[in-house]
Amino acid sequence: MASKLCTYLKASVVKKQVMAVTGLLLCGFLVSHLIGNCLIYVGSDAFNTYAHALTSNKLIYVAEAILAAIFFTHIGLAIKLTVENKKARPVQYYMKQKTGRGATFASSTMPYTGMLILVFLIIHLINFKFGPVYMTQIDGIEVRDLHKTVVLYFQSPLNVLWYVIAMIALGIHVSHGFWSAFQSLGFSHPKYNCGLKLISKLFAVVIALGYIALPIYCYLLGGK
Ligand code: HEM
Repeated sequence: MASKLCTYLKASVVKKQVMAVTGLLLCGFLVSHLIGNCLIYVGSDAFNTYAHALTSNKLIYVAEAILAAIFFTHIGLAIKLTVENKKARPVQYYMKQKTGRGATFASSTMPYTGMLILVFLIIHLINFKFGPVYMTQIDGIEVRDLHKTVVLYFQSPLNVLWYVIAMIALGIHVSHGFWSAFQSLGFSHPKYNCGLKLISKLFAVVIALGYIALPIYCYLLGGK
């Protein structure tokens, strides 16, 4: 019984560590995607030139495959761990006591905010990546007018509202996930935990507000 419990804990710790690494990589993606999207503020040519440079690079397929693998690993392990934790409740309590992780609103809603982000991502890709294709010319080169696709999509207040709700869920998810990832990787010390929790919350607020500002700006732009 004790050795079974030991094997289970070891396996679940490894899964948590892989989740932590993939989660932090996804945080890196969120930062780079937000920086790229901020070119929308500069103007349509700047944003379309950036999007064209990304999509016309052959390495994009490799980058997309790696990104998809990171997403699927993170989501797959999240589902597996949630199901396993539900089945083995006493073990869950043991781990919580051991690591001193008290339940917060963000930590106890991780599976729900995670699922909402997954739904968001599917709808997001359908609307933008595989959404309406408009073309434009920049310096005589024909490129996809993704700026128009994005701005037109956000002319609907319902689409803007959906993004605001999804980005609040993303912020809540990241506010716990970012801190929790460091804990799972062993960066835990009473001296630094408080600071790390604060950095995690600040990071989540910047990401959520950064992504919320874009749809609102596009809506106010009025299809121009
Ligand atoms: C207002 C917020 C956002 C805007 C305006 C935006 C815009 C875009 C656009 C225009 C594309 C298509 C790029 C292309 O086809 O080359 C795209 C792709 C993508 N977006 Fe977003 N995005 C936003 C938020 C997010 C968030 C919060 C996530 C993650 C949860 C996300 C994840 C992705 C992914 C994974 C792709 C596919 C990347 C690829 O295949 O290269 N986006 N986004």
